[in-house]
Amino acid sequence: MRTAVALGSNLGDRLANLRAARKAIADLAGVQPPILSSPIYETDPVGCEPGAGKFLNAVLEFDYEADPLELLKSLREIEETLGRPPNHPRNVSRKIDIDLLYCGDTATDSEELQLPHPRINSRKFVLQPLAEILTAYDYPTARLLDESGIDIILVGDSLGMVVLGYQDTTRVTLEEMLHHTRAVARGVKQALLVADMPIHTYETPAQAIETAKRFVDVGAQAVKLEGGLSRIEQIEAITQAGIPFMAHIGMLPQHVREEGGYKVKGRTQPEAEALLSDARAVEKAGAFSVVLEIVVADIAKQITHAIDIPTIGIGSGEHCDGQILVTHDLIGLFPWFTPKFVSPEARVADEIRNAARAFIERTRASGTPQSRG
Ligand code: KIV
Repeated sequence: MRTAVALGSNLGDRLANLRAARKAIADLAGVQPPILSSPIYETDPVGCEPGAGKFLNAVLEFDYEADPLELLKSLREIEETLGRPPNHPRNVSRKIDIDLLYCGDTATDSEELQLPHPRINSRKFVLQPLAEILTAYDYPTARLLDESGIDIILVGDSLGMVVLGYQDTTRVTLEEMLHHTRAVARGVKQALLVADMPIHTYETPAQAIETAKRFVDVGAQAVKLEGGLSRIEQIEAITQAGIPFMAHIGMLPQHVREEGGYKVKGRTQPEAEALLSDARAVEKAGAFSVVLEIVVADIAKQITHAIDIPTIGIGSGEHCDGQILVTHDLIGLFPWFTPKFVSPEARVADEIRNAARAFIERTRASGTPQSRG
């Protein structure tokens, strides 16, 4: 079972505490390597005594093949060995904190163990380390990204532009999104798989639930739709149906035609206030994170401080909790347009052109007779 634990420490040598916990977990019976580790994040203490120091946090993910209760018991023993007595009060500074977040699909709500962890959707300290996101629309890309250790894979409706050749996302259909989500789901083993609900598929709360369920049926573990307060009833309906939900506010590409282009959001005071209200509303409605698309960096920073779920920026500066990019932009696979805020890490389009030219030249040079079919 894919299993995740969150580690936290705000006393003593915090890094050494996290490392010792990781080693002890790796040595437990039933824990199978490899152990994937998120980057280490520093976060403000939540609900601790005044003057408490900042926490270092990380999330570990691994396969575990035994009883979750046994794992919980072992984690408590590790906490004790590393200097946290069993009767240590919850909200005071501590050398080590180990929370079991999920154990495969196990759902339990006993006094001893609650799975998934009850605050996994509402605490930045748990979700922040799960906040690097790339898009995928096909099996090989999904598998490559998953093997690279990406936290979340989004089947974005950017599909319309970078794969299907439409001018924008407003022509993407539900059937197209489901088809590509199925392919991506076959390639993903580790990452959380989120799918975009395309335009006109969440006009009412009932339609939103129906669409979200169709995505879950083809392998998505969470869904995303565009809009804050204007779509709040749909968002509440989805989260109340028990489907994990990622929000998307700021520039909304499905509205690009009415807006007349991809315009930066949060430039004026009313726009900044509306964004903050949207962010608070989607948090209250149960979203586990919120994408901020092309929002003025300073406003994105204010939103990040104001809410308890992670903000995921795209073209919104460095102060969001996580970042999302369209993979084609990151790897240079859509050379005809690259957003200003992207620095490509590769030039895959050039590689494809070079390989095709090399093939053409080699075939011509070898004099292979041409068949007309
Ligand atoms: O469609 C998409 O890929 C997206 C991200 C760019 C945020 O919504």
